[in-house]
Amino acid sequence: MTEARLEIIDLTVRFGGVRAVDGLSLSHSQGGVLGLIGPNGAGKTTVLNVLSGAAPPTSGEARLNGRRITGLRADRIARAGVARTFQNLQTFHSLSVLHNVLVPLEARAAAKPVVGLFAPLLRGGQLRQRAADLLGRVGMADQLDTPVASLPYGARRRVEVARALAADPRLVMLDEPLAGLSRAESDDLARLIRSVADSGVTVLLVEHDMVAVMRISDRVAVLEQGQLLADGTPAEVQADERVRSAYLGDELDYDPLLHKGDKRAEAAARQRVATDPDAAADPGLAADPDVAADQEAAADRPPQTTDRRRREPRAQQ
Ligand SMILES: Nc1ncnc2c1ncn2[C@@H]1O[C@H](COP(=O)(O)OP(=O)(O)O)[C@@H](O)[C@H]1O
Ligand SMILES: [Mg+2]
Repeated sequence: MTEARLEIIDLTVRFGGVRAVDGLSLSHSQGGVLGLIGPNGAGKTTVLNVLSGAAPPTSGEARLNGRRITGLRADRIARAGVARTFQNLQTFHSLSVLHNVLVPLEARAAAKPVVGLFAPLLRGGQLRQRAADLLGRVGMADQLDTPVASLPYGARRRVEVARALAADPRLVMLDEPLAGLSRAESDDLARLIRSVADSGVTVLLVEHDMVAVMRISDRVAVLEQGQLLADGTPAEVQADERVRSAYLGDELDYDPLLHKGDKRAEAAARQRVATDPDAAADPGLAADPDVAADQEAAADRPPQTTDRRRREPRAQQ
């Protein structure tokens, strides 16, 4: 499979007086995982909406492998190789895991004519096999007949990824796939996302979980108020002063992977945990044994007033 070549050219999306996306230009042709981060309201979902044909741009355009996709209908864009998942789960809860993947496969197949008396039967068997293969790929092979409604949240997210892959995309766009997952579920799904990218499907990953984004992205683009604030490797973005001072400094202060062995960063993280109960709940910090030990000590102390600006619960959209 060839990697997707995505070009976003001077894209603007206005909702009344709000410029959700404001003159955004961004090209990506090296495959892998492109992380798209930024605070709530930065315009991330709107970018995905434009790229999937769910929202028209006010001006500018987007191209996939040289072909203009803005202005095309959503089904045409899907056929051009773009698939997505949504911030809110879009699985059919009452259907089985297998059927959730069969439905999009059947819809695609229905668009192509079959010839011959037994062809539909044959095709039905092939589609079931393909659905089962896709579900095997996301680690759901042994739960094909389970109703999605009875699955834990992390498993539903896996089914959603399999549904997106059913379209055989070149570019798959995931809107906060890790939101609401436990740390273990999140780690599993992050690994799956990485493996999807390694199989040659370009992944555009919108995600708030900074530790995961920085760990699995090859490149990270930072949006703020609809504009590109920074763009580079995870290490470059984490070191970028504008990004840190704009809004992410707190979350980017310490990544146990990137800062392993960086004594100053570790000491700063420990200090923060000792004085900030919110930081103690940070999954990135919790993964670090030294920090975990300090968290236990900190837990014995009475809570202190902290700046909650950056850690308010996110509104779901
Ligand atoms: N359909 C819409 N109608 C009006 N305003 C919208 C609509 N969709 C998004 N917005 C606004 O556009 C901005 C960007 O939103 P969004 O793309 O959802 O941001 P993000 O996904 O980064 O949180 C926000 O100010 C949001 O309120
Ligand atoms: Mg969003």
